[in-house]
Amino acid sequence: MAAAVDNPLPIVVLISGRGSNLQSIIDSVAAGELPVEIRAVISNRPDVPGLQHASQAGIPTRVIDNSHYPDRAAFDAALQAAIDDYRPELVVLAGFMRILTSAFVRHYRGRMLNIHPSLLPEFPGLNTHQRVLDAGREETGATIHFVTEEIDGGPPILQARVPVLAGDDADSLAARVLEQEHRMYPVVIRWYAEGRVQLDTEGRVRLDDVPLERPRLQDSGAGAPC
Ligand code: GRF
Repeated sequence: MAAAVDNPLPIVVLISGRGSNLQSIIDSVAAGELPVEIRAVISNRPDVPGLQHASQAGIPTRVIDNSHYPDRAAFDAALQAAIDDYRPELVVLAGFMRILTSAFVRHYRGRMLNIHPSLLPEFPGLNTHQRVLDAGREETGATIHFVTEEIDGGPPILQARVPVLAGDDADSLAARVLEQEHRMYPVVIRWYAEGRVQLDTEGRVRLDDVPLERPRLQDSGAGAPC
């Protein structure tokens, strides 16, 4: 059923660090623009700034420290148990820097989103901005996609394009991309909460019940796609 502000969609957000995308989601909820309840923020690293953002907003936090688990399967099982304690209908990966096991990904099929700072399928993985610069690209961007077993390979929902400017280094480019990221996640989470976007049984994104041939494109100005 579609969520409304008086019937918010329960979500859990996973982070590993700074948490600026988390903050943009928190701000959108606080502004009454996003009909979700952030039931918990879970980090795989202790003492990261994103946990403070959550606490300041009164959101419960948990740390499931991956260094305390013997292998990926044990960590993912603990993480899954922690997430499911909160009974979310959507899991949002916001700078969560862990490769996930197939079992974990399958458990949340169609219920887990990720954001990646490139125009996927180009430049999956780490050190994205430096690799974009090294390749001499004139344009990059960011992508929100459903999570599947292929790393950064799930079907894309929304992209934003960002120019690479003369004199950019990885930090300046990351900052320009991040501005777009902060606008994107609230938009896609709202679509999901309103029941407008789904992953269908054939692995395609459906938006307003129409399969997307390619991701929606966010304009670069103040307006958000609707
Ligand atoms: C973002 O660039 C996101 O796309 C990537 O990791 C970064 C996380 O930043 N997956 P933050 O923790 O949300 O500030």
